[in-house]
Amino acid sequence: MKTGQKWQLDMGDMKILPGPRPRTTKRPLWIIILVSMVSVFLICAYIYPPSGTAACYIFSSKGCKVITDWLPPIPAREYSDAEIASRIVIREILNTPFVTANTPKIAFLFLTPGSLPFEKLWDKFFHGHEGKFSVYVHASKEKPVHVSRYFSGRETHSNEVIWGKISMVDAERRLLANALHDPDNQHFVLLSDSCVPLHNFDYIYQYLINTNISYVDCFNDPGPHGNGRYSEHMLPEIQMKDFRKGAQWFSMKRQHALIVVADNLYYSKFRDYCKPGVEGHNCIADEHYLPTFFHMTDPGGIANWSITHVDWSERKWHPKSYGAQDVTYELLQNITSIDVSVHVTSDERKEVQRWPCLWNGVQRPCYLFARKFYPEALNNLLNLFSNYSSISA
Ligand SMILES: *[C@@H]1O[C@H](CO)[C@@H](O)[C@H](O)[C@H]1NC(C)=O
Ligand SMILES: *[C@@H]1O[C@H](CO)[C@@H](O)[C@H](O)[C@H]1NC(C)=O
Ligand SMILES: *[C@@H]1O[C@H](CO)[C@@H](O)[C@H](O)[C@H]1NC(C)=O
Ligand SMILES: *[C@@H]1O[C@H](CO)[C@@H](O)[C@H](O)[C@H]1NC(C)=O
Repeated sequence: MKTGQKWQLDMGDMKILPGPRPRTTKRPLWIIILVSMVSVFLICAYIYPPSGTAACYIFSSKGCKVITDWLPPIPAREYSDAEIASRIVIREILNTPFVTANTPKIAFLFLTPGSLPFEKLWDKFFHGHEGKFSVYVHASKEKPVHVSRYFSGRETHSNEVIWGKISMVDAERRLLANALHDPDNQHFVLLSDSCVPLHNFDYIYQYLINTNISYVDCFNDPGPHGNGRYSEHMLPEIQMKDFRKGAQWFSMKRQHALIVVADNLYYSKFRDYCKPGVEGHNCIADEHYLPTFFHMTDPGGIANWSITHVDWSERKWHPKSYGAQDVTYELLQNITSIDVSVHVTSDERKEVQRWPCLWNGVQRPCYLFARKFYPEALNNLLNLFSNYSSISA
């Protein structure tokens, strides 16, 4: 950069050099001197090209690529043994296609403190689609009481989950590991007790089985609730420029579920240095680990938005929650018609980032599920389900 600036200064000086134009007969001589100086200059510039990018277009007949090659390469950071091992494992898993001899299934992973208030709704949703899905329940507080046969006996081993702590990520990884046992599970969706489906089963199944990306929410937030939570203890593997943020409610393809379960290197950085209150940061592991991990390992493999809708528009500490009276056909129609994802940075600029929701390159509505609904909303949801779940845009 410095060289480039100096170069421009030199160019500026050049223009001043000739001074006031003499009106005498010596004019041709002045022109000859000037032309030769410029020529010598141009030849020199061609042989010893300046490194500034603006200048290279003017002076190199071969374009800038040649000039960048000509510069000494920037030495790459030396990777640690753990990093080299991690990179090769991740690359091999990502390059392995998984095909199942049977019908591929979607694994629905429920992260809940106890009983699931919307089991009846999910029962309606799953009914008639046996063989195309599997259910896993991680109940972190108390043993759930089930009302649907699709949920009975589907609890995995569980542990206490504290919001914002690594135990949340541990529960997610535990659910993934359990669901990976079934080779027919090709796509994995994380849901909470307050989540509801926005479409019928076939719509969601086609949407997820026919995509080759994962829906992991991920954006760059330079503000206090984004990069402000970064810790330099995460160096050298995780640099601040790679630190990302996103909602935890993911859906991911099998290769991605495997690399999450296989990862120890990046996981341990978040376990040790991303904790609420550590170094004064209020770092929430489940909002940063997966977005950062995927941004570093397979950025083109994630959608960057979550397929689970939540309404933060009130800009409060918690998102909007829907009670019975809020659940109307109009509300569900509104949510299912959104086809642009929105992220807002937490710095003073409050920059709004909008991206179209692209499914295999085509813009489509973003959301398949929504939160947060109060248990009292169940009856309205059940009454409306067959109507709203058939809205297909
Ligand atoms: C997904 O598939 C499309 C079309 O086949 C392809 O262009 C794209 O690169 C694939 N993406 C990934 C992450 O594999
Ligand atoms: C997600 O964002 C990354 C940059 O962080 C980009 O490379 C990738 O293409 C994005 N994914 C999609 C599906 O657009
Ligand atoms: C639905 O969206 C319209 C247009 O943005 C808005 O005026 C209306 O209040 C919304 N209704 C509900 C129930 O959210
Ligand atoms: C549900 O759909 C039916 C048929 O399209 C319609 O008659 C009925 O009014 C709808 N119910 C609601 C609550 O929108």
